[in-house]
Amino acid sequence: MKKKDELYRGKTKTLYRTDNPQLLVLEFRDDISALDGKRVEQFNRKGMINNKLNYFIMSILQKFGIPTQIEELISPNATVVKKLKMFPLECVVRNRAAGSLVKRLGLDEGLPLNPPIFELFLKDDLQHDPMVNTSYCKALKIIDTDSLSQIRRLTHQINQCLSHLFFEKDLILVDFKLEFGLFQNKVVLGDELSPDSTRLWDRVTFRKMDKDIYRQNQLGLIEAYENVASRLGVRLD
Ligand code: TMP
Repeated sequence: MKKKDELYRGKTKTLYRTDNPQLLVLEFRDDISALDGKRVEQFNRKGMINNKLNYFIMSILQKFGIPTQIEELISPNATVVKKLKMFPLECVVRNRAAGSLVKRLGLDEGLPLNPPIFELFLKDDLQHDPMVNTSYCKALKIIDTDSLSQIRRLTHQINQCLSHLFFEKDLILVDFKLEFGLFQNKVVLGDELSPDSTRLWDRVTFRKMDKDIYRQNQLGLIEAYENVASRLGVRLD
């Protein structure tokens, strides 16, 4: 498999074509962004850490029967992935109140949410990724009903699997964001699972171990990501 030209450059990752039309190379850069991409900085090692964490977490999900796009870890910063036809949706699961939910409803940060909250956001940078629901999806033909119900089922399974995985490592899975696409007519998990797209708190101290460190202008982002990797047994070198 040969890496070819750039297909798409996102805020923190770049996708490259390969000589196999069904496969892409997903490269994690050292960039971090906030405020809809208005704030962008680089953190040495972040691309490598997130690539390895994403590969590790998605491999575990695969073992539990969740279809994911990952194929092969090919370098510290890159993974070969299936080329998906992405749905223009971000699926957020919340086990505790944090972030935009706290702002919107004035809840106490950390409030347990049982059952977890499931939210959908339309991927549309110009409209700042507005929240949508099943009715919007149907009326605006954003996604077919069958794929959306599969996404809900997979998201629920992923939350159960990852909540357990992190809890065993003394981490609370507060919330996270997933993106799905179609590969050979099957719904498959794409994009990434890393501390950029997941809120993780230390189970004892409630210390934040994720991108909120950057969003809230605190120090120690890379140390926190490395700590998550070390707890999960992911070798960074
Ligand atoms: P929120 O509280 O800002 O809505 O974020 C909920 C979760 O989704 C949190 O773990 C961060 C993640 N997320 C992303 O990965 N990308 C995004 O663009 C947004 C808005 C949230």
